[in-house]
Amino acid sequence: MILAGNSAESIAQAAQVLATGELVAFPTETVYGLGADAGREDAVAKIFAAKGRPSDHPLIVHVADASGVAHFASQVPAFASRLIEKFWPGPLTLILHRRIGVAAAAAGGHDSIGLRCPAHPVAHALLVACAQATPAVIGLAAPSANKFGRVSPTTAGHVRAEFGDDLLVLDGGPCQVGIESTIVDCTRGVPVLLRPGVLGRAELEAACGERMRNADELDATPRASGTLESHYAPTARVRLMDAKSLQTALDLLGAEAAGIATYSRAILQTRSDKVIRRRMPDDAVETARQLFAVLRDFDSHGVRLIWVETPPDEPEWEGVRDRLQRASA
Ligand code: TXA
Ligand code: MG
Repeated sequence: MILAGNSAESIAQAAQVLATGELVAFPTETVYGLGADAGREDAVAKIFAAKGRPSDHPLIVHVADASGVAHFASQVPAFASRLIEKFWPGPLTLILHRRIGVAAAAAGGHDSIGLRCPAHPVAHALLVACAQATPAVIGLAAPSANKFGRVSPTTAGHVRAEFGDDLLVLDGGPCQVGIESTIVDCTRGVPVLLRPGVLGRAELEAACGERMRNADELDATPRASGTLESHYAPTARVRLMDAKSLQTALDLLGAEAAGIATYSRAILQTRSDKVIRRRMPDDAVETARQLFAVLRDFDSHGVRLIWVETPPDEPEWEGVRDRLQRASA
């Protein structure tokens, strides 16, 4: 069931459902999340079951404001405090040392915890209402509201398409950021960028006063399931190529060719009017905003192949490039 997220009654109803240990999907500025009380093992188990996600893959816990950090984390290094100060509420998740005995199931049994304070007004209102509910819910564990390995949802309709109409979904409109939060691991003494998002490295480094390390600089094992090579994938096969190769591939098709979609900054020519062509915006922020909806839309047209022009090798495109590389892996 989809409820308007901007109504006080919907928020109160959703908070009550969460306080009884059930799931509610809610909007954030990045993507929609599938939420449960982060402090209840039985509630969190429902997330893993619904998503089909292995239960040792840790979930992000969402808090209403920075004061929630002390409940879940045992220590916060100075560089992490500076990131919180600068970017919360916003599309940034920090991995911190978990307080013993708190949210173990949400953390997938790990000794760390991913924390994020979302900037979306509906998410914020829900988190505040949850903290005031009986019993109080401090923190919502919420992965992206999609089946494991699939493209994250950026509208309430996408969430319903994933989980059906029994799930309560708060509708907050289309997500403004459109790709998942930037994840910085703060448990290793220096900041480690686990998943790029829309926040640029340069901004992160300026805010925390440290160089962002990559996971492979410290060790080879990636810790985030969003860092698995194949992830965020639509049903159709995604292939990345430069504009020239894309045009060459189109030139090889006959006038009856179908089942192919293109997404490119370049204007492409094709003899077949059954090839779906969409223009990628020139701007990385705008592309991030529409990317997952575009991939889902191609799937809904039943295409077999999605040919995407490789985004520019520039810092502001890092998050979009990362998601497209995973979708094509
Ligand atoms: O934008 C977002 O981050 C969205 C919205 C709903 O907040 N959430 C999201 O959650 O993308 P999910 O579960 O799809 O991706 C969370 C990522 C996973 O790759 C997970 O492995 C990583 O965060 N993660 C969470 N807790 C972690 C931890 N303690 N240590 C390492 N990685 C962690
Ligand atoms: Mg996800």
